[in-house]
Amino acid sequence: MKKRMPEFRLFWGDCVTGLQRHVGPASINICVTSPPYNLGVRYRSYADARDWDEYLNWTDSWTSQIRHVMKEDGSLFLNVSGSLRSPLLPHLLVDRIVNRRKLFRLQNTIHWIKSIAVPEKGSERQIGHYKPIKSDRFVNDCHEYVFHLTPNGNTRLDRKAVGVPYSDKSNITRWSHTNGDDLKCKGNTWFIPYKTIMNRAKDRPHPATFPTELAAQCIRLHGKNGKSSVLDPFLGIGHAALAAAESRVAKFVGFEIDGEYLRVAGEELKTVGATPQIRKV
Ligand SMILES: C[S@@+](CC[C@H](N)C(=O)[O-])C[C@H]1O[C@@H](n2cnc3c(N)ncnc32)[C@H](O)[C@@H]1O
Repeated sequence: MKKRMPEFRLFWGDCVTGLQRHVGPASINICVTSPPYNLGVRYRSYADARDWDEYLNWTDSWTSQIRHVMKEDGSLFLNVSGSLRSPLLPHLLVDRIVNRRKLFRLQNTIHWIKSIAVPEKGSERQIGHYKPIKSDRFVNDCHEYVFHLTPNGNTRLDRKAVGVPYSDKSNITRWSHTNGDDLKCKGNTWFIPYKTIMNRAKDRPHPATFPTELAAQCIRLHGKNGKSSVLDPFLGIGHAALAAAESRVAKFVGFEIDGEYLRVAGEELKTVGATPQIRKV
């Protein structure tokens, strides 16, 4: 029997204030999120070009709030990407969170591969989508980071929940750690292409999203889904919420500063049978 749809609480407004007001300490199991990267992306409401010190200080406030609401055995999956202008941004952020502020430990680094060239019939075939760079110096950037940050560095995971079958089936009986299952850990390179869309304004009305499948794999990897509370403080048009619906977690809380993005997230959730509550922070 399919488990119950989670309870969805979506808030319109600033996530730092919202986390303080509406989310209890040590109440969240999994946070999957992608903040603005300060790269001048044209969001509807948020101005994504702040002074770098101000941006990093702001990062301190929302990461501290996430730590405050997270359980000791929780997981923060933080999706960040660099750019030509700021290639070190992902590393700066993680250094700040882990070494300077000592809020979380870096437990795993996952590489979200959006596009890859694979050998096929003596040649190579490129699969997946990426934004091409016009340059004679830089290669196209086909990947982003997902830093798996945890309070103590020892959060237990359900690796087989995102496992892959063995290519050589004799391994299943040869190794005792398989427990007879045809599933093994797939490692930290996750190929998850964007869905092909025909009309951006209608099919994906947001300039910087991650695929639902990326968030779903993070939720499954953390495990214990039926009892989990999941958070996305930067909800956008709701892909982490859709992943929570698909994974049948217990609860989901999301914050988004732009009313239109939040409206789209609510509508998308309704199409999968959820009944989100939407309120102001
Ligand atoms: C990278 S996008 C997240 C996209 C989302 N993962 C998706 O797939 O739709 C970051 C989002 O954070 C929102 N945002 C910026 N500042 C915020 C704040 N203080 N509180 C809540 N949301 C904020 C922006 O409007 C933007 O939609």
